Amino acid sequence: MNIGTPLSPSATRVMLLGSGELGKEVIIALQRLGVEVIAVDRYANAPGMQVAHRSHVVTMTDGEALRAVIEKERPHLVVPEIEAIATEMLLEIEREGIAEVIPTARAARLTMNREGIRCLAAEELGLPTSPYEFADSLAELQAAIDNTAGGIGYPCVVKPVMSSSGKGQSLIKSPQDVEKAWDHACAGGRVKQNRVIVEGFIDFDYEITLLTVRAIGAAGTVETYFCEPIGHVQINGDYVESWQPMAMTPRALEKSREIAAAVTGNLGGRGIFGVELFIKGDQVWFSEVSPRPHDTGLVTLCSQRLSEFELHARAILGLPVDVSLRMPGASAVIYGGIQETGIAFEGVAEALAVPQSDLRLFGKPESFVKRRMGVAVANAPTTDEARARAKLAASRVRPVKAGKAE
Ligand SMILES: Nc1ncnc2c1ncn2[C@@H]1O[C@H](COP(=O)(O)OP(=O)(O)OP(=O)(O)O)[C@@H](O)[C@H]1O
Ligand SMILES: [Mg+2]
Repeated sequence: MNIGTPLSPSATRVMLLGSGELGKEVIIALQRLGVEVIAVDRYANAPGMQVAHRSHVVTMTDGEALRAVIEKERPHLVVPEIEAIATEMLLEIEREGIAEVIPTARAARLTMNREGIRCLAAEELGLPTSPYEFADSLAELQAAIDNTAGGIGYPCVVKPVMSSSGKGQSLIKSPQDVEKAWDHACAGGRVKQNRVIVEGFIDFDYEITLLTVRAIGAAGTVETYFCEPIGHVQINGDYVESWQPMAMTPRALEKSREIAAAVTGNLGGRGIFGVELFIKGDQVWFSEVSPRPHDTGLVTLCSQRLSEFELHARAILGLPVDVSLRMPGASAVIYGGIQETGIAFEGVAEALAVPQSDLRLFGKPESFVKRRMGVAVANAPTTDEARARAKLAASRVRPVKAGKAE
């Protein structure tokens, strides 16, 4: 693919559907390669909009609205950054040849709903996953847990079929938790569908994200590349810190790569995927996959020669990639801590005084207590030291009411 001149008839145009902190970094990577970028999100001044050539505020779950903005802008590539998109319309856009959807419209459709990707992974591809059932009511949920013929049992995890970042998710330890978990899932789902997945709890030693890139290789065809595994800690289904590389046994790494190759190979297209896996000894379970950069992969901003965002930009443009590790690194999330519009960050200088550290402050217009507003990354000779540095740097950044900052 030749890259043209932005804002001219030769421009190579890419549209991001979703322009949060991950989209912002993808846009910066595309800008550096001379691509014209259009940012779309459901609210004004989203992080990615602040670094794009143009932006649009669109309800992306509205198929007609989505089609209208794509027809208006005529991007060569449409790059979903979030799950909540009218994916049926993406299938149409792809089928009609209006734009290329990254990695494929089918990948976006299958991964926006836990049912689609779980059935593909477990039933079609035969990959190891937690035992699971779907339920449309409290009674069905209880039956799925109790059913003696392969029942899920306790403990188990309940999640709305459409949700992310742990929303609506709960761990059920005993029968008295079931109703509360059902109500929590119904309140936390992305759409008022009231359908849940219940999964047997996997007592893993650790979990990883295996960033997997499908990009054009030396032979001119799509090849699969694996980044070093990323370890991470999740609290209530939301990532709080990550590090790379995560030490694994050779057998567990080999199995992880086999699983990642199978699922990304089936989803197809070009781009980066975040394959989430649970590991116990040499045993590996597939959990889920994002056909786009992964939040735990923010660590690659400091740990790889090319970050996951640069890898995504290169892969979607048909350019070669290099997935090599630069140095061990870690990331730690900076939460809003307060509910406020137009906050300020105190302690930035103190945070950046931590050796080999860096910050990304996302520029989100509104802060919530549990909204991710920034991230600290840090390098060190070992991931343990890098984690300590990243956490220290993150802890020094304090979101405050604007006007109070010096
Ligand atoms: N079956 C399970 N057994 C044990 N732990 C689980 C299970 N399912 C989920 N978890 C824990 O909850 C976390 C979030 O689950 P999952 O990735 O399915 O939710 P999510 O809402 O899609 O999260 P995100 O969007 O942040 O990836 C997992 O990373 C893992 O730590
Ligand atoms: Mg997940």
